[in-house]
Amino acid sequence: MIPAGVKTLIGLFPLGVVATVTSEGRPAASPKGTFLVLDDQTIAYGDIRSPGTRSNLDHMPELEVVFVDPFKRKGARLRGRTRVVERGASGFAELIGNWSSAWGDLADRIGALVIIEISTCLPLATPPYDDGATEADMIATYQAKYKEIYP
Ligand SMILES: Cc1cc2nc3c(=O)[nH]c(=O)nc-3n(C[C@H](O)[C@H](O)[C@H](O)COP(=O)(O)O)c2cc1C
Repeated sequence: MIPAGVKTLIGLFPLGVVATVTSEGRPAASPKGTFLVLDDQTIAYGDIRSPGTRSNLDHMPELEVVFVDPFKRKGARLRGRTRVVERGASGFAELIGNWSSAWGDLADRIGALVIIEISTCLPLATPPYDDGATEADMIATYQAKYKEIYP
């Protein structure tokens, strides 16, 4: 079950860093910005040009993914088993409209959808919350920092 707050997080900040395992057993992290929540148990991203992650999933079809709200400095870590739906395969046509609605023409470049059935979902929070910082504090701090970087 994906909590409502995590669904909102992924909707607002759909950039997840995906962790897979290579055939040699090494960790591999790769960003994917096209995540969508499909239902209470399922999230998915569009594979546009991620051959390494795809090959890792071929031999070990599990992944972990982290999403972070860069203003609140809170996030979620989700893990699950994956299933790949190739363009042209059964089910692709029914699903791809969700990506067209969200990302327009970029959806035409999605060669496959990587569907993740979530088994665990854990919250993440930056350590300043341990010392009493509030969400409002964190948002104000990071709005100011990002404004300095990109005024
Ligand atoms: C912010 C960001 C978002 C990205 N989103 C996606 C995505 O949704 N799908 C995709 O296939 N590649 C995406 N990429 C590109 C891949 O991460 C990139 O091609 C990477 O080299 C793939 O490595 P891999 O084959 O090891 O996964 C994104 C890259 C960045 C920096």
